[in-house]
Amino acid sequence: ILHVPDDLTPEEQQELENIRRRKQELLEDIQRLKDEIAEVTSEIENLGSTEERKNMQRNKQVAMGRKKFNMDPKKGIQFLIENDLLKNTSDDIAQFLYKGEGLNKTAIGDYLGERDEFNIQVLHAFVELHEFTDLNLVQALRQFLWSFRLPGEAQKIDRMMEAFAQRYCQCNPGVFQSTDTCYILSFAIIMLNTSLHNPNVKDKPTVERFISMNRGINDGGDLPEDLLRNLYESIKNEPFKIPEDDGNDLTHTFFNPDREGWLLKLASLMLIVCSTGGRVKTWKRRWFILTDNCLYYFEYTTDKEPRGIIPLENLSIKEVEDKKPNCFELFIPDNKDQVIKACKTEADGRVVEGNHTFYRISAPTAEEKEEWMNSIKAAISRDPFYEMLAARKKKVSSMKRH
Ligand SMILES: *[C@@H]1O[C@H](CO)[C@@H](O)[C@H](O)[C@H]1NC(C)=O
Ligand SMILES: *[C@@H]1O[C@H](CO)[C@@H](O)[C@H](O)[C@H]1NC(C)=O
Ligand SMILES: *[C@@H]1O[C@H](CO)[C@@H](O)[C@H](O)[C@H]1NC(C)=O
Ligand SMILES: *[C@@H]1O[C@H](CO)[C@@H](O)[C@H](O)[C@H]1NC(C)=O
Ligand SMILES: *[C@@H]1O[C@H](CO)[C@@H](O)[C@H](O)[C@H]1NC(C)=O
Repeated sequence: ILHVPDDLTPEEQQELENIRRRKQELLEDIQRLKDEIAEVTSEIENLGSTEERKNMQRNKQVAMGRKKFNMDPKKGIQFLIENDLLKNTSDDIAQFLYKGEGLNKTAIGDYLGERDEFNIQVLHAFVELHEFTDLNLVQALRQFLWSFRLPGEAQKIDRMMEAFAQRYCQCNPGVFQSTDTCYILSFAIIMLNTSLHNPNVKDKPTVERFISMNRGINDGGDLPEDLLRNLYESIKNEPFKIPEDDGNDLTHTFFNPDREGWLLKLASLMLIVCSTGGRVKTWKRRWFILTDNCLYYFEYTTDKEPRGIIPLENLSIKEVEDKKPNCFELFIPDNKDQVIKACKTEADGRVVEGNHTFYRISAPTAEEKEEWMNSIKAAISRDPFYEMLAARKKKVSSMKRH
């Protein structure tokens, strides 16, 4: 509060009056400046928020596109293209999938697995984005199988693994004789992963068996043992991780379910006793293992060598009545006297061809009979993937190396 003395001269009063007026004017100037600043500031702010709003709008649409993609990959991609959020080229779409931000890897796998020509181009562009140089096959597979979820269909898996094998060989020339070799070994590794890490698979292959399983796959020659040993150790130490792992691991979707257990097997013995030689039937208790499209049987669960091997290729299975309960039979359809291609080990250790036109087997319970029959049926049924793989194996092992 300004204290004004009342004994001022008129000149002094006039001076005071002038000061007050100037002060008022200054205050008004300040207010005007403040208003102007406020106006400019608000303009600047508004300017920013239009940009921001545009950005936010765009981000919202991208998020919507991702959601759509996760529900229906084709529709999601279409939405993004129509809204100028993605260019319609295989390279741009591949980039988008490879980055994978906010995308469900099952949906990525579904999109890449489509048979459409354009999707196949995207698949190839996608695989090209992977850098495999100087990675061993297991490291490359880890990276590849983590970037999307491999779909369950044989044809799709075939295309994807073919693209993978081509890219791997392109990044690492000279490691394999051909992409077929890389392809086959990739599957051997995926199978090995399951054998070693799936608790339901009892039969755990040793490194020696893994090496011998992969003989001749390098265009007729063998792969270096060191290489196979390294790959084996790598998988043994750390299983493959796959995205969206729901416990239903890959191998289960396209390879035969394995099973093992005690069954009774009918054997007929030739008796040459006195004058009345003849065949007599006996039931032998054997430990059966169903794996690799073959039925193996052992005398004891701990035996290393099977007593017999029955390849299931070309065989059929049916239920039969017998005095023994829960029986089924393996036989060659439309054929009466042809002997089933199989082998067995004689008591003296010789391996001889079997002499069965059928195999009759009895399970301990009706339930087990059902389970065995289903597993064997699944193994026998023409698994298209199994056949594709078998065809490639034949091709590479029959090739002559130069
Ligand atoms: C993107 O291009 C492909 C072929 O170049 C065409 O078949 C497809 O309809 C296009 N998609 C969209 C959403 O425009
Ligand atoms: C991805 O999609 C699959 C199949 O639609 C679904 O089962 C899975 O839960 C989804 N994953 C996530 C993380 O949403
Ligand atoms: C490897 O094995 C583990 C354990 O069974 C399984 O969770 C995973 O899906 C397997 N990976 C592949 C690629 O099969
Ligand atoms: C199964 O049948 C095919 C075609 O008849 C034949 O080439 C193949 O050798 C057979 N396999 C066995 C194990 O008998
Ligand atoms: C198979 O059994 C038949 C009789 O059923 C016999 O004549 C034949 O010699 C046997 N073959 C072999 C290889 O044991």
